[in-house]
Amino acid sequence: MEKTTPLLQVQDLQVEVAGRTVLQSVSLQVRPGEVAVLMGANGSGKSTLGLALAGHPRYRITAGRATLGGQDLLAMGVEERARAGLFLSFQAPADIPGVKNSLFVRTAVNAVRQARGEAPQDAVDFLGEARGAARRLGLPEGMLSRPVNEGFSGGERKRNELLQLALLRPRVAILDEIDSGMDVDGVRATLELVATLRAQGTAFVVVSHYQQLIEKIEPDAVLRLEQGRISQSGGLELVREIARTGYAAAREAAEA
Ligand SMILES: Nc1ncnc2c1ncn2[C@@H]1O[C@H](COP(=O)(O)OP(=O)(O)O)[C@@H](O)[C@H]1O
Ligand SMILES: [Mg+2]
Repeated sequence: MEKTTPLLQVQDLQVEVAGRTVLQSVSLQVRPGEVAVLMGANGSGKSTLGLALAGHPRYRITAGRATLGGQDLLAMGVEERARAGLFLSFQAPADIPGVKNSLFVRTAVNAVRQARGEAPQDAVDFLGEARGAARRLGLPEGMLSRPVNEGFSGGERKRNELLQLALLRPRVAILDEIDSGMDVDGVRATLELVATLRAQGTAFVVVSHYQQLIEKIEPDAVLRLEQGRISQSGGLELVREIARTGYAAAREAAEA
C-alpha cells in the first residue's frame, strides 16, 4: 500500500524555554491513523514539544518547521492550530473556574466545525453526544455541568481530557501522559478511544512511561527523546529495552 502523506510533520524543531534551549533538533512524522509513542526521561522535553506545537507562548520555537496536513503550523495562532485540528491533552490540566464543562467543550467543538465550514451543533445534539462519551469514559454525567476541572481528582481530570478528545475528533492528537494518575478502567477507556479515533484517521503522538499501555496501543513507532533530539526510534523492543535498563543506564552505555 502506498504511504499517505504525514498529517503531522516536525522537522529539526528547536525550542527555547525560559532562556534555555530544551529541544535542539526534533524531527518526527505521523500519518493518518498512526500512533507514535514518545518516551524520554523526566525533563527531557516531551511536554515542551507538545506545548510548543500547540503554540504556548513560553515555549519559543527558534528553528525548524512543523506542518499539519501540509499547512504551516507555526504560522498559525494558538486558536487557529486548534481549529485546524490539533489537540493537546495537558499533563496537568488546569481548572477553569466559572466556566461550565459542557459549555467549554461545546464552544471548542463548534469553533472546529465552523473552521470546517459546518453548521454549529445544537445544544440538544451536543448534550446527547457528550453524555454518551462521558458514559463510555466512566465520567459521572454531573461533571458536564460543573466548572472545568474544579475539584476534579487527578484521574477525573485526565478522563475529562479524553472527553474533549472524543468530542473534538481532532486530526492530530498529542496525549501527554494521559495515563498517569488513571485507574485501570481509565486506561482501558483510553485504549478504546485511541483505537476508535485511529480507525477514523486521527494521528497520535502519545507520551507515556507505561509499558503496559504502550504495548496495548500497538504503536507504529516508538521514539526516544534525549538531549533535545530523537536519539532512537524503533518498535516495542525499544520500550522493553528502556523498561529493562532505564534511561540513565542506556545513556551511560551510549556515552561509553
Ligand atoms: N515553563 C517553564 N519554565 C522553566 N523551565 C521549564 C518550563 N517548562 C519546562 N521547563 C524545563 O524544560 C525541561 C523539559 O521539561 P518538560 O518538557 O516538562 O520535560 P518532560 O515532559 O520530558 O518531563 C525541564 O528541564 C524543565 O524544567
Ligand atoms: Mg512532561
